Amino acid sequence: MRSFDEADKLYDDIDALEPDTETYRPKDLPEREDELDELHSALEPIARGGTPRDVLIYGPTGQGKTHGVKLKTEQLQEWADRNDVALTTANVQCKGSDKSYNVLTLLVKQLREVRFGPGVDKPVGHQRKTLVEMAFEEMEEIGGTILVVLDEIDAIGEDDYILYELPRANLDNTKLGVIGITNDLQFRDSLDADVRSSLGKREITFHPYDANQLKNILARRAVKALQDTKFEGNKKKLAALESDVLSDDVIPLCAAFAAQDTGDARQGLRLLSRSVELAKKENDEVVTESHVRKAKAGIERDRVGQSIRAETTQRKLALLTVVEAAENGETPAETSDLYEKYTDYCETIDADNYIDHTFREKLNDLEHSGLLEKNRTGRGHGKGMTNTYDLQVSTETAFENLSADGRLSKLVENIRSGRKKSTL
Ligand SMILES: Nc1ncnc2c1ncn2[C@@H]1O[C@H](COP(=O)(O)OP(=O)(O)OP(=O)(O)O)[C@@H](O)[C@H]1O
Ligand SMILES: [Mg+2]
Repeated sequence: MRSFDEADKLYDDIDALEPDTETYRPKDLPEREDELDELHSALEPIARGGTPRDVLIYGPTGQGKTHGVKLKTEQLQEWADRNDVALTTANVQCKGSDKSYNVLTLLVKQLREVRFGPGVDKPVGHQRKTLVEMAFEEMEEIGGTILVVLDEIDAIGEDDYILYELPRANLDNTKLGVIGITNDLQFRDSLDADVRSSLGKREITFHPYDANQLKNILARRAVKALQDTKFEGNKKKLAALESDVLSDDVIPLCAAFAAQDTGDARQGLRLLSRSVELAKKENDEVVTESHVRKAKAGIERDRVGQSIRAETTQRKLALLTVVEAAENGETPAETSDLYEKYTDYCETIDADNYIDHTFREKLNDLEHSGLLEKNRTGRGHGKGMTNTYDLQVSTETAFENLSADGRLSKLVENIRSGRKKSTL
């Protein structure tokens, strides 16, 4: 067994490659200078005795929205404290709150904690209109300027009541600014016209990072995280990076993979840190391209595994029909052949045997989740068209994750061992 006394040969600060926003917080985001300048302009009235402008921030996942807004509001708070300006920021994390009502209870709780200290309970049993009034009362009591940050606000879905009411506050004692953050384009576009005309009047978009930006982001974090890794001169760019523990192609490859996908910095960081972990595990002193490729395969396996495990039993059965066909070299497979297998499985495990039409729907759902590929092909002269399905993930990954379902494990093992026998 490894000892915790073992010296780390690669990491200097293990947290600096961690994508979780709370674990490590970069002091600046140079790639977001323009966006943070726009936010600065919206908040600047506070420093001139005026009212902050409401803002809606949009951008896909992993683009520095949460962290960027934190940096800017903290900078403002420090300025306010230094200059005796009364400013309060309420940061509300809306994820998990599927209604305006839930977000309002969180907001009231946070505002009360400003006055009474931590540990205040969430208000329960009120109508949302009362909760809005309670929030406004608290704001009047606190006074000065209040900034309310509603992060991941898309959680509230169609119930955008809070976004309608907050910007319309009519307060005597207090100036209020609202910053809404979302990564959901559909949510932004579906907002009520009145909400968009107030909150969305100022919209700041965080466009996805390109490969060059991701390279520099990863290089800066690698300098913090890894031993014998530094920038030559003043430039904090990949071109100036010197490292004894990273081979030259590692960061460009991690950045290229992340850029190819969605330009998500979190994804790039995860890939780089998994690559370092792999090198450590293999006792290698230098992280190389091969670690990155293996780490990427591992991350994909995990992702596919999670999505298979999250499927319903019926969809898992439908998936298993294609997995078995793929194992036997029968893919692309026609729906009718797959349906026969499905009927057998249902009998074996005593599951509800749905009609053929419903079974087709399950196959289509699996296509939408990216686990299957569907094609429409001709059956031969005069025999019309049919759908065929092929597996989009490896049979091993599929078997492994399907057998994790207690109801299916025996069936999956039988199909797997059937294959083993036939290849003996
Ligand atoms: N320009 C950057 N430089 C360094 N690190 C960055 C940069 N942009 C993002 N990150 C890092 O990437 C991770 C994700 O950033 P953040 O949580 O702010 O993304 P987000 O846009 O809020 O994503 P989501 O929509 O999923 O909430 C964090 O670890 C953050 O520190
Ligand atoms: Mg965020």
